[in-house]
Amino acid sequence: MLTRYKKSYNKIAMGLLSFMPNEKDMQKLQITINQYETDQDHQLFLWKEEKGIIGLIGVVFVNNHLIQIQHISVNPSHRGHGIGSRMVKALKQLYPDTSFIPDENTAAFCEKCDLNESFLWSEAPV
Ligand SMILES: CC(C)(COP(=O)(O)OP(=O)(O)OC[C@H]1O[C@@H](n2cnc3c(N)ncnc32)[C@H](O)[C@@H]1OP(=O)(O)O)[C@@H](O)C(=O)NCCC(=O)NCCS
Repeated sequence: MLTRYKKSYNKIAMGLLSFMPNEKDMQKLQITINQYETDQDHQLFLWKEEKGIIGLIGVVFVNNHLIQIQHISVNPSHRGHGIGSRMVKALKQLYPDTSFIPDENTAAFCEKCDLNESFLWSEAPV
């Protein structure tokens, strides 16, 4: 299930974020996590199962109708079992009346997800 990020999850969240190709630099990673901790428009969700936190998905609320997916990461030991796509689906269920767009780092994976028709992908710049 998706659970909202809390500061107590800082270490595990940073570890998962560091798998993103654009978050390899420690300084960049620190800026990113600070943004999720302080910016009201940024929200990080963690994917929690019985075995613990094994994934994350990070978004920006562009406006009331549009969410951009910025980060998706799954613990390497749990990849290839549908966790990534499940996180995207759970996010859509959480915000059923909202449209979603990927950014350049999540576009390739988001395109692979099984998306229903209400899931609007826009190429428009935000
Ligand atoms: C991308 C990622 C989140 C996928 O998580 P996952 O739980 O393994 O995803 P799922 O099991 O739901 O889906 C697996 C499918 O996604 C594909 N996939 C994995 N990484 C991908 C990527 N970067 N771009 C496009 N497709 C990708 C796999 O090839 C697989 O395809 P298949 O079903 O046709 O075999 C995971 O590989 C990861 O954490 N990668 C490192 C972080 C990263 O690069 N994030 C940006 C992704 S755009």
